[in-house]
Amino acid sequence: MKDFIWNVDTKIMFGKDFLKDLPNEIQKYGDRVLITYGGGSIKTIGLYDKVIKVLKKANIFYKELGGIEPNPRVESAREGVKIVRENDLNFILAIGGGSVIDLSKLIAGATFVDADPWKIVIKEEKIEKALPIGTILTLAATGSEMDAGGVITNPETKQKLGFGSPYTTPKFSILNPETTYSVNERHTAAGVADIMSHTMENYFTLNDGAYLQNRLAEAILKTCIHYGPIALNNPTNYDARANIMWASSWAINGLLNTGKDTNWSVHAMEHELSAFYDLTHGIGLAILTPRFLNHILDDSTVDMIRDFGINVFNIRPTNDKFVDAKKSIGALHEFFEQQMHIPMTLEEVGIDDEHLEEMAKRAATHAGGTIKGVKQLTSEDILEIYKKSLY
Ligand code: NZQ
Ligand code: ZN
Repeated sequence: MKDFIWNVDTKIMFGKDFLKDLPNEIQKYGDRVLITYGGGSIKTIGLYDKVIKVLKKANIFYKELGGIEPNPRVESAREGVKIVRENDLNFILAIGGGSVIDLSKLIAGATFVDADPWKIVIKEEKIEKALPIGTILTLAATGSEMDAGGVITNPETKQKLGFGSPYTTPKFSILNPETTYSVNERHTAAGVADIMSHTMENYFTLNDGAYLQNRLAEAILKTCIHYGPIALNNPTNYDARANIMWASSWAINGLLNTGKDTNWSVHAMEHELSAFYDLTHGIGLAILTPRFLNHILDDSTVDMIRDFGINVFNIRPTNDKFVDAKKSIGALHEFFEQQMHIPMTLEEVGIDDEHLEEMAKRAATHAGGTIKGVKQLTSEDILEIYKKSLY
């Protein structure tokens, strides 16, 4: 295992009754707040009214930026920075899923950069300072509530790229599983697939001695496999929503990749699908992951994939490692398709072969020429994985 430092300083307030503590938490960092949210779900579920009530009661000044899109766009960050500067705001409260939180992170950093926010995303500018952020999570998926990163789309250049800075890690996050009761079937399933994908991106590595981290990863995967279908069938099952919510934070808060190198190969391929087709992130990951695993299956990876099936899906080992590894991949595919009701082909989500080549080239370029990982993926490899995902 490699040396590492692990430090996440997000205070998590997990449970049903922490909204009353919101003013106290905010006032540790600021008193003029930008509230950010998406297309309106927080109003439908009554959360918006509750938040406004506690802020007003505590006499906290606020401005709002609503309408942040899924696959959030850089334009909204420009708007947010403008509101912050015009009103001299000093804190951001993000209420929503990953899109709202990611966009808020960009606003937080871009406020102190004298350039267009997109320059941060394309690494021409660096975040050296950021407004403090607090979050109220409403969708369990990305882990943005407890990590430093964000992913932003620029529709003009058809790019969807990640950025990150320790300065943009949320100071606190309120996680009330009840706020996720209203998440529909598609986004619940996509969220579970995203959590599983984050876990698998950290898990599928070779010979790094990170035994403990991999057993923790398996626990997170098993939690998703157990509670994902329960949440779909009974959206107001508290324990299902709670376990999935807590899993979302732990899958990507840095714990699972302590002491090892990880590569996030499937995410690199998926971000192109979202950039070109505005596809829901977790759906793209679910479609690509089994095809990716099939593509990298060979003598060097067979044990890793077989162990995954045995430890996570209780596959019964046989004398043929390759048969077992194929069964493991099949079990994952079947879980997404049968139990989480995820459309498992690109065709079903409206993607044909028109842009596959261009997307494959871009995925490779964005990763610096090839996607590194357990197996290096050239643009030809990526194209093959996309093609295998079509039908
Ligand atoms: O916009 P509203 O009306 O709020 O509706 C949203 C949106 O339509 C809805 N929703 C959220 N909470 C709800 C709800 N509907 C009913 N009840 C609730 N309680 O769900 C839809 C999707 O929301 P979004 O925030 O886009 O979903 P998610 O949390 O999955 O975030 C996806 C984004 O995060 C990025 C993805 O690429 C994508 O852009 N990621 C961020 C990461 C990070 N920061 O570390 C890592 C991930 O790998 C990922 O790339
Ligand atoms: Zn993801």
